[in-house]
Amino acid sequence: MSTKLAPSGEGIRIHRAPIRRQSLADIEAQAARIAAMMGQIRTAMLPPASVKQAPAVSAAQLAELCGVDKSKIAYRLTRGDLPAGTMVGNRREWAMTDARTWVRDLRHEHMRPAQAAGTTITVANFKGGVAKTTSAVTLAQGLAMRGHRVLVVDLDPQGSATTLFGVLPGAEVEPEHTAMLLFSGEEEDLSYAIRPSYWPGIDLICAAPLLFGAEFALPARQTRDPGFEFWRCLDRGLDQARMDYDVILIDTPPALSYVTINALMAADGVIMPLPPSALDFASSAQFWDLFSDLCNQLIRSRGQDKTFEFIDVLLSRVESSDAASSVVRQWVLEAYTDKVLPIEIPKTSVAATASAEFGTVYDLPRGAVNSKTFGRARDAFDRMCELIEQQIVAVWAAQIEQMEG
Ligand SMILES: Nc1ncnc2c1ncn2[C@@H]1O[C@H](COP(=O)(O)OP(=O)(O)OP(=O)(O)O)[C@@H](O)[C@H]1O
Ligand SMILES: [Mg+2]
Repeated sequence: MSTKLAPSGEGIRIHRAPIRRQSLADIEAQAARIAAMMGQIRTAMLPPASVKQAPAVSAAQLAELCGVDKSKIAYRLTRGDLPAGTMVGNRREWAMTDARTWVRDLRHEHMRPAQAAGTTITVANFKGGVAKTTSAVTLAQGLAMRGHRVLVVDLDPQGSATTLFGVLPGAEVEPEHTAMLLFSGEEEDLSYAIRPSYWPGIDLICAAPLLFGAEFALPARQTRDPGFEFWRCLDRGLDQARMDYDVILIDTPPALSYVTINALMAADGVIMPLPPSALDFASSAQFWDLFSDLCNQLIRSRGQDKTFEFIDVLLSRVESSDAASSVVRQWVLEAYTDKVLPIEIPKTSVAATASAEFGTVYDLPRGAVNSKTFGRARDAFDRMCELIEQQIVAVWAAQIEQMEG
Protein backbone atom coordinates (compact mmCIF):
# COMPACT_ATOMS: atom_id res chain seq x y z
CA MET A 1 0.00 0.00 0.00
CA SER A 2 1.53 3.35 -0.99
CA THR A 3 0.81 6.60 0.80
CA LYS A 4 0.78 10.19 -0.32
CA LEU A 5 1.08 13.49 1.43
CA ALA A 6 -1.88 15.83 0.97
CA PRO A 7 -0.98 18.83 -1.27
CA SER A 8 -1.49 21.21 1.61
CA GLY A 9 1.49 19.61 3.23
CA GLU A 10 -0.43 19.15 6.45
CA GLY A 11 0.70 15.56 6.60
CA ILE A 12 -2.65 13.87 6.15
CA ARG A 13 -1.93 10.47 4.73
CA ILE A 14 -4.35 9.09 2.15
CA HIS A 15 -4.22 5.35 1.59
CA ARG A 16 -4.62 4.23 -1.95
CA ALA A 17 -3.96 1.12 -3.99
CA PRO A 18 -0.66 1.06 -5.86
CA ILE A 19 -0.85 1.90 -9.54
CA ARG A 20 0.53 -0.88 -11.64
CA ARG A 21 0.86 0.65 -15.06
CA GLN A 22 1.16 -1.73 -17.99
CA SER A 23 2.81 -0.59 -21.18
CA LEU A 24 2.19 -2.30 -24.49
CA ALA A 25 5.64 -3.85 -24.12
CA ASP A 26 4.57 -5.35 -20.75
CA ILE A 27 1.47 -6.83 -22.34
CA GLU A 28 3.57 -8.22 -25.17
CA ALA A 29 5.99 -9.82 -22.69
CA GLN A 30 3.11 -11.32 -20.73
CA ALA A 31 1.62 -12.81 -23.91
CA ALA A 32 4.97 -14.40 -24.70
CA ARG A 33 5.22 -15.85 -21.17
CA ILE A 34 1.75 -17.44 -21.41
CA ALA A 35 2.46 -18.83 -24.88
CA ALA A 36 5.66 -20.45 -23.58
CA MET A 37 3.72 -21.86 -20.62
CA MET A 38 1.08 -23.33 -22.94
CA GLY A 39 3.84 -25.10 -24.85
CA GLN A 40 5.10 -26.64 -21.60
CA ILE A 41 1.62 -27.52 -20.36
CA ARG A 42 0.79 -29.27 -23.59
CA THR A 43 4.03 -31.26 -23.55
CA ALA A 44 3.32 -32.33 -19.98
CA MET A 45 -0.30 -33.24 -20.62
CA LEU A 46 -0.06 -34.99 -23.91
CA PRO A 47 2.58 -37.66 -23.49
CA PRO A 48 4.43 -39.04 -25.31
CA ALA A 49 6.07 -36.33 -27.38
CA SER A 50 2.97 -34.13 -27.42
CA VAL A 51 1.09 -36.31 -29.87
CA LYS A 52 -2.53 -37.00 -29.06
CA GLN A 53 -3.98 -40.40 -29.83
CA ALA A 54 -7.53 -41.60 -30.26
CA PRO A 55 -8.41 -44.29 -27.69
CA ALA A 56 -8.72 -47.97 -28.61
CA VAL A 57 -12.18 -49.51 -28.95
CA SER A 58 -13.37 -52.58 -26.99
CA ALA A 59 -15.55 -55.34 -28.43
CA ALA A 60 -18.60 -54.05 -26.53
CA GLN A 61 -18.03 -50.53 -27.84
CA LEU A 62 -17.44 -51.78 -31.37
CA ALA A 63 -20.73 -53.68 -31.25
CA GLU A 64 -22.47 -50.55 -30.00
CA LEU A 65 -20.95 -48.37 -32.72
CA CYS A 66 -21.87 -50.90 -35.39
CA GLY A 67 -25.37 -51.24 -33.96
CA VAL A 68 -25.08 -55.02 -33.68
CA ASP A 69 -24.88 -57.66 -30.99
CA LYS A 70 -21.47 -58.65 -29.63
CA SER A 71 -22.03 -62.15 -30.99
CA LYS A 72 -22.21 -60.70 -34.51
CA ILE A 73 -18.74 -59.19 -34.01
CA ALA A 74 -17.42 -62.57 -32.86
CA TYR A 75 -19.02 -64.23 -35.89
CA ARG A 76 -17.60 -61.71 -38.37
CA LEU A 77 -14.18 -62.16 -36.80
CA THR A 78 -14.21 -65.81 -37.85
CA ARG A 79 -14.68 -64.75 -41.48
CA GLY A 80 -11.37 -62.92 -41.25
CA ASP A 81 -12.24 -60.18 -43.76
CA LEU A 82 -12.20 -57.31 -41.24
CA PRO A 83 -9.32 -56.12 -39.00
CA ALA A 84 -8.81 -58.61 -36.14
CA GLY A 85 -7.65 -56.08 -33.56
CA THR A 86 -5.18 -57.08 -30.87
CA MET A 87 -5.49 -59.05 -27.66
CA VAL A 88 -4.78 -57.01 -24.53
CA GLY A 89 -4.78 -59.56 -21.72
CA ASN A 90 -7.88 -61.64 -22.46
CA ARG A 91 -9.76 -58.77 -24.13
CA ARG A 92 -9.71 -57.85 -27.76
CA GLU A 93 -9.47 -54.23 -28.78
CA TRP A 94 -9.25 -52.30 -32.01
CA ALA A 95 -7.33 -49.20 -32.97
CA MET A 96 -9.75 -46.41 -33.97
CA THR A 97 -8.75 -46.73 -37.66
CA ASP A 98 -9.62 -50.45 -37.66
CA ALA A 99 -12.85 -49.85 -35.74
CA ARG A 100 -13.89 -47.40 -38.48
CA THR A 101 -13.30 -50.10 -41.12
CA TRP A 102 -15.77 -52.32 -39.23
CA VAL A 103 -18.29 -49.56 -38.77
CA ARG A 104 -18.21 -48.54 -42.43
CA ASP A 105 -18.84 -52.14 -43.42
CA LEU A 106 -21.57 -53.00 -40.92
CA ARG A 107 -23.37 -49.66 -41.15
CA HIS A 108 -23.04 -49.13 -44.88
CA GLU A 109 -26.66 -47.97 -45.13
CA HIS A 110 -25.79 -44.93 -42.97
CA MET A 111 -22.86 -43.88 -45.16
CA ARG A 112 -23.06 -41.05 -47.69
CA PRO A 113 -24.28 -42.21 -51.10
CA ALA A 114 -21.71 -41.39 -53.81
CA GLN A 115 -24.06 -38.94 -55.55
CA ALA A 116 -24.84 -36.92 -52.40
CA ALA A 117 -22.78 -33.93 -51.29
CA GLY A 118 -21.19 -33.70 -47.86
CA THR A 119 -23.34 -31.92 -45.27
CA THR A 120 -22.07 -28.69 -43.70
CA ILE A 121 -23.01 -28.02 -40.08
CA THR A 122 -22.19 -24.76 -38.30
CA VAL A 123 -22.11 -24.57 -34.51
CA ALA A 124 -23.00 -21.02 -33.55
CA ASN A 125 -24.23 -18.78 -30.77
CA PHE A 126 -22.83 -15.34 -30.21
CA LYS A 127 -22.76 -15.90 -26.47
CA GLY A 128 -19.37 -17.03 -25.21
CA GLY A 129 -18.73 -20.22 -23.27
CA VAL A 130 -21.97 -22.03 -24.13
CA ALA A 131 -20.08 -25.18 -25.28
CA LYS A 132 -19.87 -24.45 -29.02
CA THR A 133 -16.36 -25.83 -29.35
CA THR A 134 -16.95 -28.78 -27.02
CA SER A 135 -20.09 -29.73 -28.98
CA ALA A 136 -18.40 -29.28 -32.39
CA VAL A 137 -15.34 -31.37 -31.54
CA THR A 138 -17.28 -34.09 -29.72
CA LEU A 139 -19.71 -34.34 -32.63
CA ALA A 140 -16.81 -34.58 -35.09
CA GLN A 141 -15.31 -37.46 -33.09
CA GLY A 142 -18.68 -39.18 -32.70
CA LEU A 143 -19.45 -38.98 -36.42
CA ALA A 144 -15.95 -40.19 -37.33
CA MET A 145 -16.41 -43.15 -34.96
CA ARG A 146 -19.64 -43.89 -36.81
CA GLY A 147 -17.66 -44.21 -40.02
CA HIS A 148 -17.99 -40.77 -41.61
CA ARG A 149 -15.17 -38.70 -43.07
CA VAL A 150 -15.27 -35.38 -41.23
CA LEU A 151 -13.62 -32.02 -41.89
CA VAL A 152 -13.48 -29.68 -38.89
CA VAL A 153 -13.13 -26.02 -39.81
CA ASP A 154 -12.07 -23.85 -36.88
CA LEU A 155 -13.13 -20.27 -37.60
CA ASP A 156 -12.62 -18.89 -34.09
CA PRO A 157 -9.40 -16.83 -33.83
CA GLN A 158 -9.12 -18.17 -30.27
CA GLY A 159 -8.37 -21.53 -31.88
CA SER A 160 -10.03 -23.57 -29.13
CA ALA A 161 -11.00 -26.42 -31.46
CA THR A 162 -7.48 -26.31 -32.89
CA THR A 163 -6.12 -26.63 -29.33
CA LEU A 164 -8.43 -29.60 -28.60
CA PHE A 165 -6.86 -31.30 -31.63
CA GLY A 166 -3.46 -30.88 -29.99
CA VAL A 167 -2.25 -28.02 -32.20
CA LEU A 168 -1.10 -24.78 -30.58
CA PRO A 169 -2.74 -21.83 -32.39
CA GLY A 170 0.03 -19.37 -31.53
CA ALA A 171 3.11 -21.41 -32.31
CA GLU A 172 2.10 -24.04 -34.83
CA VAL A 173 -0.44 -22.37 -37.10
CA GLU A 174 0.55 -20.37 -40.20
CA PRO A 175 -1.88 -18.46 -42.45
CA GLU A 176 -1.84 -21.34 -44.96
CA HIS A 177 -3.25 -23.71 -42.30
CA THR A 178 -6.27 -21.44 -41.79
CA ALA A 179 -9.17 -20.00 -43.79
CA MET A 180 -7.39 -16.62 -43.83
CA LEU A 181 -6.06 -16.95 -47.40
CA LEU A 182 -9.59 -17.75 -48.60
CA PHE A 183 -11.01 -14.67 -46.87
CA SER A 184 -8.18 -12.44 -48.11
CA GLY A 185 -8.79 -13.61 -51.68
CA GLU A 186 -5.39 -15.28 -52.20
CA GLU A 187 -7.12 -18.67 -52.51
CA GLU A 188 -10.53 -19.58 -53.89
CA ASP A 189 -10.89 -23.12 -52.59
CA LEU A 190 -10.36 -23.90 -48.92
CA SER A 191 -8.77 -27.31 -49.59
CA TYR A 192 -5.26 -25.76 -49.42
CA ALA A 193 -5.59 -25.48 -45.61
CA ILE A 194 -6.58 -29.07 -44.81
CA ARG A 195 -4.28 -31.12 -42.58
CA PRO A 196 -4.81 -34.52 -41.00
CA SER A 197 -5.66 -34.72 -37.29
CA TYR A 198 -4.75 -37.32 -34.67
CA TRP A 199 -8.29 -38.73 -34.82
CA PRO A 200 -8.83 -41.22 -37.67
CA GLY A 201 -11.49 -39.92 -40.05
CA ILE A 202 -11.09 -36.27 -39.06
CA ASP A 203 -9.13 -33.66 -41.01
CA LEU A 204 -8.67 -30.15 -39.70
CA ILE A 205 -8.49 -26.56 -40.82
CA CYS A 206 -6.90 -24.63 -37.98
CA ALA A 207 -7.52 -21.21 -36.53
CA ALA A 208 -5.19 -18.76 -34.82
CA PRO A 209 -5.37 -15.11 -33.82
CA LEU A 210 -4.22 -14.16 -37.32
CA LEU A 211 -7.74 -15.07 -38.48
CA PHE A 212 -8.94 -11.79 -36.93
CA GLY A 213 -7.55 -10.31 -40.17
CA ALA A 214 -10.66 -11.66 -41.95
CA GLU A 215 -12.77 -9.07 -40.12
CA PHE A 216 -10.86 -6.39 -42.04
CA ALA A 217 -10.20 -8.25 -45.28
CA LEU A 218 -13.83 -9.16 -46.01
CA PRO A 219 -15.35 -5.66 -45.67
CA ALA A 220 -12.37 -4.20 -47.57
CA ARG A 221 -12.99 -6.57 -50.47
CA GLN A 222 -16.69 -5.71 -50.41
CA THR A 223 -15.87 -1.99 -50.64
CA ARG A 224 -13.48 -2.54 -53.55
CA ASP A 225 -15.93 -4.77 -55.40
CA PRO A 226 -19.64 -4.22 -54.64
CA GLY A 227 -20.48 -7.43 -56.54
CA PHE A 228 -18.26 -9.55 -54.26
CA GLU A 229 -20.86 -10.86 -51.74
CA PHE A 230 -18.57 -11.32 -48.74
CA TRP A 231 -21.04 -13.67 -47.06
CA ARG A 232 -20.63 -16.35 -49.77
CA CYS A 233 -16.83 -16.54 -49.63
CA LEU A 234 -16.73 -19.67 -47.44
CA ASP A 235 -19.71 -21.32 -49.13
CA ARG A 236 -17.89 -21.14 -52.48
CA GLY A 237 -14.58 -22.18 -50.91
CA LEU A 238 -16.10 -25.45 -49.63
CA ASP A 239 -17.17 -26.83 -53.02
CA GLN A 240 -14.31 -29.34 -53.23
CA ALA A 241 -14.59 -30.33 -49.55
CA ARG A 242 -18.27 -31.20 -50.06
CA MET A 243 -17.14 -33.87 -52.52
CA ASP A 244 -14.26 -35.12 -50.37
CA TYR A 245 -16.00 -35.28 -46.95
CA ASP A 246 -19.26 -36.63 -45.59
CA VAL A 247 -19.64 -33.95 -42.96
CA ILE A 248 -18.03 -30.51 -42.61
CA LEU A 249 -18.27 -29.13 -39.08
CA ILE A 250 -17.60 -25.44 -38.51
CA ASP A 251 -16.80 -23.96 -35.09
CA THR A 252 -17.41 -20.22 -34.85
CA PRO A 253 -16.34 -17.39 -32.53
CA PRO A 254 -18.73 -15.95 -29.92
CA ALA A 255 -19.76 -13.07 -32.20
CA LEU A 256 -21.92 -12.49 -35.23
CA SER A 257 -18.76 -11.52 -37.12
CA TYR A 258 -18.07 -11.47 -40.87
CA VAL A 259 -16.62 -14.95 -40.48
CA THR A 260 -19.63 -16.27 -38.52
CA ILE A 261 -22.00 -14.93 -41.18
CA ASN A 262 -19.95 -16.85 -43.76
CA ALA A 263 -20.21 -20.01 -41.65
CA LEU A 264 -24.00 -19.67 -41.36
CA MET A 265 -24.40 -18.99 -45.08
CA ALA A 266 -22.32 -22.07 -45.93
CA ALA A 267 -24.35 -24.29 -43.60
CA ASP A 268 -26.95 -26.92 -44.40
CA GLY A 269 -27.59 -27.30 -40.69
CA VAL A 270 -27.04 -25.15 -37.62
CA ILE A 271 -26.51 -26.30 -34.06
CA MET A 272 -26.97 -23.72 -31.33
CA PRO A 273 -25.73 -24.92 -27.94
CA LEU A 274 -27.73 -23.20 -25.24
CA PRO A 275 -27.28 -23.61 -21.50
CA PRO A 276 -30.62 -23.24 -19.69
CA SER A 277 -29.80 -19.93 -18.01
CA ALA A 278 -31.92 -16.80 -18.27
CA LEU A 279 -29.15 -14.62 -19.71
CA ASP A 280 -28.16 -17.21 -22.29
CA PHE A 281 -31.79 -17.61 -23.31
CA ALA A 282 -32.23 -13.84 -23.69
CA SER A 283 -29.03 -13.58 -25.68
CA SER A 284 -30.16 -16.34 -28.05
CA ALA A 285 -33.21 -14.25 -28.97
CA GLN A 286 -30.92 -11.36 -29.90
CA PHE A 287 -28.79 -13.70 -31.98
CA TRP A 288 -31.70 -14.75 -34.19
CA ASP A 289 -33.02 -11.21 -34.34
CA LEU A 290 -29.69 -9.83 -35.52
CA PHE A 291 -29.22 -12.74 -37.89
CA SER A 292 -32.58 -12.25 -39.61
CA ASP A 293 -31.90 -8.49 -39.88
CA LEU A 294 -28.62 -9.27 -41.58
CA CYS A 295 -30.20 -11.82 -43.92
CA ASN A 296 -32.82 -9.30 -44.94
CA GLN A 297 -30.17 -6.70 -45.68
CA LEU A 298 -27.74 -8.96 -47.49
CA ILE A 299 -29.83 -11.61 -49.15
CA ARG A 300 -33.51 -10.88 -49.44
CA SER A 301 -32.86 -7.31 -50.57
CA ARG A 302 -31.11 -8.91 -53.58
CA GLY A 303 -34.09 -11.14 -54.29
CA GLN A 304 -32.21 -14.20 -52.98
CA ASP A 305 -33.04 -16.64 -50.19
CA LYS A 306 -31.43 -19.17 -47.87
CA THR A 307 -32.90 -22.39 -46.49
CA PHE A 308 -31.44 -24.53 -43.73
CA GLU A 309 -32.09 -28.27 -43.74
CA PHE A 310 -32.18 -28.21 -39.95
CA ILE A 311 -31.63 -25.92 -36.98
CA ASP A 312 -31.03 -27.69 -33.68
CA VAL A 313 -31.01 -26.12 -30.25
CA LEU A 314 -28.83 -28.22 -27.97
CA LEU A 315 -29.35 -27.83 -24.24
CA SER A 316 -25.78 -27.76 -22.97
CA ARG A 317 -24.10 -27.63 -19.58
CA VAL A 318 -27.35 -28.57 -17.86
CA GLU A 319 -27.37 -28.80 -14.07
CA SER A 320 -30.31 -31.05 -13.35
CA SER A 321 -30.37 -30.16 -9.65
CA ASP A 322 -30.66 -26.44 -10.40
CA ALA A 323 -34.26 -25.21 -10.01
CA ALA A 324 -33.72 -22.05 -12.08
CA SER A 325 -32.46 -24.06 -15.02
CA SER A 326 -35.58 -26.20 -15.15
CA VAL A 327 -37.68 -23.03 -15.46
CA VAL A 328 -35.49 -21.72 -18.28
CA ARG A 329 -35.54 -25.16 -19.91
CA GLN A 330 -39.33 -24.73 -20.16
CA TRP A 331 -38.87 -21.32 -21.82
CA VAL A 332 -36.42 -22.84 -24.29
CA LEU A 333 -38.88 -25.62 -25.15
CA GLU A 334 -41.72 -23.17 -25.55
CA ALA A 335 -39.70 -20.77 -27.69
CA TYR A 336 -37.82 -23.21 -29.89
CA THR A 337 -40.42 -26.04 -29.88
CA ASP A 338 -39.36 -28.85 -32.21
CA LYS A 339 -35.93 -27.33 -32.84
CA VAL A 340 -34.82 -28.44 -29.38
CA LEU A 341 -32.95 -31.74 -29.61
CA PRO A 342 -34.53 -34.34 -27.28
CA ILE A 343 -31.32 -34.65 -25.30
CA GLU A 344 -29.48 -32.58 -22.69
CA ILE A 345 -25.76 -32.46 -22.15
CA PRO A 346 -25.25 -32.53 -18.37
CA LYS A 347 -22.73 -30.28 -16.73
CA THR A 348 -19.82 -32.41 -15.62
CA SER A 349 -18.72 -30.67 -12.45
CA VAL A 350 -15.53 -32.64 -12.10
CA ALA A 351 -13.91 -32.55 -15.50
CA ALA A 352 -11.89 -35.40 -13.97
CA THR A 353 -8.45 -33.96 -14.54
CA ALA A 354 -7.11 -30.76 -16.03
CA SER A 355 -5.89 -32.70 -19.03
CA ALA A 356 -9.50 -33.69 -19.74
CA GLU A 357 -10.05 -30.01 -20.52
CA PHE A 358 -7.66 -30.41 -23.44
CA GLY A 359 -9.86 -33.13 -24.85
CA THR A 360 -13.45 -34.36 -24.87
CA VAL A 361 -15.33 -37.24 -23.25
CA TYR A 362 -14.39 -39.36 -26.26
CA ASP A 363 -10.67 -38.84 -25.73
CA LEU A 364 -10.73 -40.92 -22.58
CA PRO A 365 -11.19 -44.66 -22.89
CA ARG A 366 -14.52 -45.82 -21.44
CA GLY A 367 -14.13 -46.59 -17.76
CA ALA A 368 -11.01 -44.45 -17.43
CA VAL A 369 -12.93 -41.99 -15.32
CA ASN A 370 -14.94 -43.38 -12.50
CA SER A 371 -17.59 -40.72 -12.34
CA LYS A 372 -21.32 -41.08 -12.80
CA THR A 373 -21.77 -37.59 -14.25
CA PHE A 374 -18.99 -38.25 -16.71
CA GLY A 375 -20.66 -41.45 -17.88
CA ARG A 376 -23.95 -39.60 -18.21
CA ALA A 377 -22.27 -36.88 -20.28
CA ARG A 378 -20.79 -39.51 -22.55
CA ASP A 379 -24.16 -41.24 -23.02
CA ALA A 380 -25.72 -37.86 -23.80
CA PHE A 381 -23.07 -37.09 -26.43
CA ASP A 382 -23.60 -40.56 -27.95
CA ARG A 383 -27.29 -39.80 -28.28
CA MET A 384 -26.54 -36.30 -29.68
CA CYS A 385 -24.31 -37.82 -32.39
CA GLU A 386 -27.01 -40.38 -33.21
CA LEU A 387 -29.72 -37.72 -33.54
CA ILE A 388 -27.59 -35.47 -35.71
CA GLU A 389 -26.46 -38.37 -37.87
CA GLN A 390 -30.13 -39.23 -38.50
CA GLN A 391 -30.71 -35.71 -39.80
CA ILE A 392 -27.62 -35.87 -42.02
CA VAL A 393 -28.67 -39.21 -43.49
CA ALA A 394 -32.14 -37.74 -44.16
CA VAL A 395 -30.56 -34.78 -46.00
CA TRP A 396 -28.62 -37.20 -48.22
CA ALA A 397 -31.73 -39.25 -48.92
CA ALA A 398 -33.65 -36.10 -49.88
CA GLN A 399 -30.82 -35.09 -52.26
CA ILE A 400 -30.92 -38.45 -53.98
CA GLU A 401 -34.71 -38.35 -54.23
CA GLN A 402 -34.53 -34.92 -55.81
CA MET A 403 -31.96 -36.12 -58.35
CA GLU A 404 -34.03 -39.13 -59.25
CA GLY A 405 -37.36 -37.29 -59.20
N1 LIG B 1 -21.05 -30.34 -20.29
C1 LIG B 1 -20.10 -29.60 -19.72
N2 LIG B 1 -19.84 -29.69 -18.41
C2 LIG B 1 -18.90 -28.96 -17.81
N3 LIG B 1 -18.13 -28.09 -18.46
C3 LIG B 1 -18.33 -27.92 -19.78
C4 LIG B 1 -19.33 -28.67 -20.49
N4 LIG B 1 -19.30 -28.29 -21.78
C5 LIG B 1 -18.33 -27.38 -21.87
N5 LIG B 1 -17.75 -27.15 -20.69
C6 LIG B 1 -16.67 -26.21 -20.37
O1 LIG B 1 -17.16 -24.90 -20.56
C7 LIG B 1 -16.15 -24.08 -21.09
C8 LIG B 1 -16.66 -23.45 -22.38
O2 LIG B 1 -16.88 -24.48 -23.32
P1 LIG B 1 -16.53 -24.25 -24.86
O3 LIG B 1 -15.15 -23.75 -25.02
O4 LIG B 1 -16.92 -25.48 -25.58
O5 LIG B 1 -17.58 -23.09 -25.16
P2 LIG B 1 -17.62 -22.12 -26.40
O6 LIG B 1 -19.05 -21.74 -26.57
O7 LIG B 1 -16.93 -22.73 -27.55
O8 LIG B 1 -16.79 -20.90 -25.85
P3 LIG B 1 -16.29 -19.64 -26.73
O9 LIG B 1 -17.49 -18.77 -26.86
O10 LIG B 1 -15.21 -19.02 -25.91
O11 LIG B 1 -15.82 -20.16 -28.04
C9 LIG B 1 -14.93 -24.95 -21.29
O12 LIG B 1 -14.08 -24.81 -20.19
C10 LIG B 1 -15.51 -26.34 -21.34
O13 LIG B 1 -14.58 -27.31 -20.91
MG1 LIG C 1 -15.42 -21.95 -28.74
